[in-house]
Amino acid sequence: MSSELVLKDVDKIYGAGAIHAVKDLSFTVKPGEITALLGSSGCGKTSTLRMIAGFETLTNGSITLDGRPIHALPPAQRNVAMAFETYSLYPPLTIGENISFALKAQKLGQADVGKRVRDMAEMLEIGDVLHKYPSSVSGGQQQRASLGRALVRPAGLYLLDEPMGQLEPQLRAVLRGRIKHYLREHKCTTILVTHDQTEANALADRIAVMEGGVLQQYATPAELKARPANLFVGTFIGEPPMNVFPVEVRDDGKTVNFTITGSDGQSLAYAAADLPQAVRTRLQSETALMLGVRPHAVHIGRSGLKARVVTCQWLGDQTHIATEIAGRTVVSVSHEQITAKPGETIALGIAPHDLHVFAAGTGAAIAHGAELV
Ligand SMILES: Nc1ncnc2c1ncn2[C@@H]1O[C@H](COP(=O)(O)OP(=O)(O)OP(=O)(O)O)[C@@H](O)[C@H]1O
Ligand SMILES: [Mg+2]
Repeated sequence: MSSELVLKDVDKIYGAGAIHAVKDLSFTVKPGEITALLGSSGCGKTSTLRMIAGFETLTNGSITLDGRPIHALPPAQRNVAMAFETYSLYPPLTIGENISFALKAQKLGQADVGKRVRDMAEMLEIGDVLHKYPSSVSGGQQQRASLGRALVRPAGLYLLDEPMGQLEPQLRAVLRGRIKHYLREHKCTTILVTHDQTEANALADRIAVMEGGVLQQYATPAELKARPANLFVGTFIGEPPMNVFPVEVRDDGKTVNFTITGSDGQSLAYAAADLPQAVRTRLQSETALMLGVRPHAVHIGRSGLKARVVTCQWLGDQTHIATEIAGRTVVSVSHEQITAKPGETIALGIAPHDLHVFAAGTGAAIAHGAELV
């Protein structure tokens, strides 16, 4: 079943204004779309899901599912299925009964219910504990039972809060694939909460990055990486994180120089023709900038920024070199095997199309590669 979810100007303030957990949040999840809410601990992910599910009131704003305002309805009338961070299974029911309980309203035959519960349990690798009670299975098994209970029933919207947080990496990877296939096959409109960007990238069509209760950017995984809206997203998304330096720009008409602040004049110099006029014009009106470069775009070569090697590690398929320029760490990742000794000085080259430029004050993106934002 596919429904469209729209959040508009949603705020959540807990207590007497002490904690503003969600700030003016607006986004849409299209029918059948999988959206990940990604952000660090305390950024407001669970609060957002609980407001959508109806376990928390909105301080402001509206939530509609298929055009129907749901934010004032009791949870049971919202047509929303949710798997919680804390499993909240019914202790007196077995794992199997907990999952089948979700199908009660469906008026299905006993055999049909049994098959659906078994199929779900097999998909989640908990087929062997269906007869056990929640108190006698592991946290990871309880978590999967909670996920199964949410997924087994038809709903307009599925809300999954860290559904695999308790599982070891191998099982997580297997289940991730199966769950994505299941959500796609059943065209489930889904919001998945996670602080694991690998999980968000693997499962989601679009990722909503949150920080401090504020939506920073809502885009596809590829777009977040190529065109981060601000410095926060730029450094939050991607592994290892984006390198950033404070710079000043000087453009004499022939050469554009990005001089690293506090580095005794070290600069990246590009022929003016390598940067579009629109970008150059815009940069001239900015005084303090932050330059971002992804580790894969920092190339060891003959010319470029002079950097002191701190560590150099060959990881079997790539070399990670951490260097230092003006007290800042700059990481380079290469698929070749490179040897560099700590203390040695090397040159780091960066192509103009790999530059990300942000305003130093607001952190807002100005240009990505050779394109103005
Ligand atoms: N019931 C509550 N009463 C008061 N403050 C709360 C309540 N629930 C959450 N908060 C606060 O609201 C903010 C957002 O919390 P929330 O649980 O939504 O974060 P989260 O992104 O889900 O974090 P995590 O990744 O740790 O689960 C935090 O500062 C938290 O302490
Ligand atoms: Mg949470």
